[in-house]
Amino acid sequence: MYKIFDTVDEVSLYTAQRLLEKIKAAPSAVMGLATGSTMEPVYAQLLGALQQSPVDLSQLTTFNLDEYIGLSAEHPQSYNYYMCQHLFNQLNIPKHNIHLPDGLASDIEAACLAYSNAIQTMGGMDLQLLGIGSNGHIGFNEPQTCFNSRTHVVELSEQTRIDNGRFFVEQSEVPTLAITMGIKDILEAKEIILVATGRNKTDIMAQLFSSEIDERLPASALKQHSNLTIVLDREAAALLPEQAFKNAV
Ligand code: GLP
Repeated sequence: MYKIFDTVDEVSLYTAQRLLEKIKAAPSAVMGLATGSTMEPVYAQLLGALQQSPVDLSQLTTFNLDEYIGLSAEHPQSYNYYMCQHLFNQLNIPKHNIHLPDGLASDIEAACLAYSNAIQTMGGMDLQLLGIGSNGHIGFNEPQTCFNSRTHVVELSEQTRIDNGRFFVEQSEVPTLAITMGIKDILEAKEIILVATGRNKTDIMAQLFSSEIDERLPASALKQHSNLTIVLDREAAALLPEQAFKNAV
């Protein structure tokens, strides 16, 4: 299902409200969280809503999608740091309920396995929030990732390193490796919301719309999911055919 809004503000408000509804309906929900610039206004709206009308988050569990290998939680470009800045520092989610892949784990393979197992032990995500890379990646699952994958180590594509280079001082500082939740972990979420905004996402959203389910376009795996909402602004939706707008708001 597509939801298409005029502005980023509307996209973010809608998405934040969906997260909030889920938390209110199920205080012990398991939420899959994402990073990236798309999520910043979503989290800002969520914080604003929670400030106005506080909700007890003491039973909430979160799992983040991915993390760079080699960056500590104190590194300003690590996803751990991002989540603390944009969300966790302002919320009362117990620390032991917050999960991010550990990019400094001494045994990365064991850490990946433990991460997937922890997700499965919790019964999978109740709601998974996703952004999308300009090459169609979800989490850090790059093109050609097996759709059966669990949490694993990835070598970042050149395109992804260039896209994410804007957050680093020097392009050479962008890590080459990352840990990501696998596509199977993502697909086991009971509900998925994919958010894309802005001109940089116009082409990939058009490709995704017309694509078959194909490992060359990781986000196309989501087409198998029975409870997927794709939330776009007008810019990201600019090249979608009329039929995408039929059931959209
Ligand atoms: C990164 C993250 C993805 C995110 C993507 C899009 O590569 N690993 O999870 O979806 O960037 O980010 P942005 O929202 O900044 O375009």
